[in-house]
Amino acid sequence: MEPKKYAIVTGAASGLGRATAVALGRRGWHIAVADLNDAGSQETLQMVRAAGGDGQVEPLDVTKVEQWQTMSTKLRASWPSLDLLVNNAGVGVGGEVGTLPLDDWRWIIDINLYGAIYGCHVLVDWLKSNPRGAHIVNIASMAGVVSAPGMAPYNVTKAGMISLSETLFGELKAHNVGVTAVCPSFFPTNIIHSGRFQNEAQKNMAAKLMKRSTATADDVAGLILRAIDQRRLYVMVPFQAVVFWWLKRLFPRFLLNFVASRYLRETEKPAVVEKAAG
Ligand SMILES: NC(=O)c1ccc[n+]([C@@H]2O[C@H](COP(=O)([O-])OP(=O)(O)OC[C@H]3O[C@@H](n4cnc5c(N)ncnc54)[C@H](O)[C@@H]3O)[C@@H](O)[C@H]2O)c1
Repeated sequence: MEPKKYAIVTGAASGLGRATAVALGRRGWHIAVADLNDAGSQETLQMVRAAGGDGQVEPLDVTKVEQWQTMSTKLRASWPSLDLLVNNAGVGVGGEVGTLPLDDWRWIIDINLYGAIYGCHVLVDWLKSNPRGAHIVNIASMAGVVSAPGMAPYNVTKAGMISLSETLFGELKAHNVGVTAVCPSFFPTNIIHSGRFQNEAQKNMAAKLMKRSTATADDVAGLILRAIDQRRLYVMVPFQAVVFWWLKRLFPRFLLNFVASRYLRETEKPAVVEKAAG
């Protein structure tokens, strides 16, 4: 029988983190459900157990490095190894640069980016020391690729997550630690409710895009598990995200113009004809 595997999943009290924890539970994994929402975390733990796995709730605010260190010390004392870290906890911010409060920038960078940086910083040595190899999954977003107007702080954190993952990919290769950057476009979760938006119109626009989505958190979680098995660096989902990914690589200006025109249409702003090419 294969030895039991151990994972820490941040933001696992809801949405994609929960779906990923449950999908790992179906494979018999032991999960640390790490989130600041205790009730949601307890619910996830029940779902993990019902799926065939096991685990524990670890209260964690990802923005507090000392909480990461406390959790790491505790788990190292009781777990034989760490096989997987999923940096999933995240929030959203909507609004344009110049009008967005700087506090909102700091808030989201702290959670979405520093949360993952702390996780990697504190746990990377433990992952490297796993004799059967280990894996880090960073939940980025298509937002980090397409840089849609009206959500710069979110885009910046997710582009940062892609870069962090690509860097770790090179640094951890020799240690048999795989890395995956997950870049989904919208799918329905609670992220709209916890997000900070400057007005209702922005919130409604995000909710509309989420409703139109063809993917679910379970679909994305399934792809995450496959990516871990296959040691894939990137997960783009759904198919439209794959198209955007290639357009960004081959024709970046075409893609950014397309995204900008959609934003102008949705926000009913007048388009200005471009004078300079480049
Ligand atoms: N839903 C989407 O459309 C979408 C698309 C692309 C990427 N993502 C990313 O997926 C990830 C999960 O988001 P979701 O959509 O499932 O949202 P969600 O709101 O359903 O879940 C986010 C979880 O993160 C937790 N969290 C928030 N701040 C935290 C903190 N400081 N410390 C610990 N936990 C914290 C919340 O309690 C919650 O359980 C995020 O990184 C998000 O950016 C979501």
